[in-house]
Amino acid sequence: MDIQTVLESQHRLLDALLLEAVREGSTVDEEVYLAFREVLARHIAIEEKVLLQALREAGVIFSQAERIHQDHRALGQLMAAEPTMANVTALAMLFHEHEAVEESEIGLFATCAQLLDPEILEKSRSEYVATAGDAAWTPSTREQAFKLAAGRKR
Ligand SMILES: [Fe+2]
Ligand SMILES: [Fe+2]
Repeated sequence: MDIQTVLESQHRLLDALLLEAVREGSTVDEEVYLAFREVLARHIAIEEKVLLQALREAGVIFSQAERIHQDHRALGQLMAAEPTMANVTALAMLFHEHEAVEESEIGLFATCAQLLDPEILEKSRSEYVATAGDAAWTPSTREQAFKLAAGRKR
């Protein structure tokens, strides 16, 4: 599976988990939200350490890089905050805008697919997997998300 497909499928998983976490409307389902956070933290790490890193290494000028870094920092702060309905709603709004930026025709994923030498991307990916491990790379199913969250609690 190519990196773009992995990351887009993680976006869809994250969308589904966010919806499920606020399904009740008044309270946040903390178990689901913890699973969401586990996947989002890994997802952001992949974008920062594989994609954006590879673009830098290749010398590709990507005008949205700074915006994406800023969003990642803001998402990190919201993930670290109390999981109140207000915080989770703020995170959801930012995350949905952020996904649209990354998935647009001139976004992060398309830029990597069109302008990056696949060898540089693969080098960046294998360096990341060597330090973070395969498990940090793969979460794309609800089951995997819950397993990661359960592992964190122990
Ligand atoms: Fe992102
Ligand atoms: Fe993303």
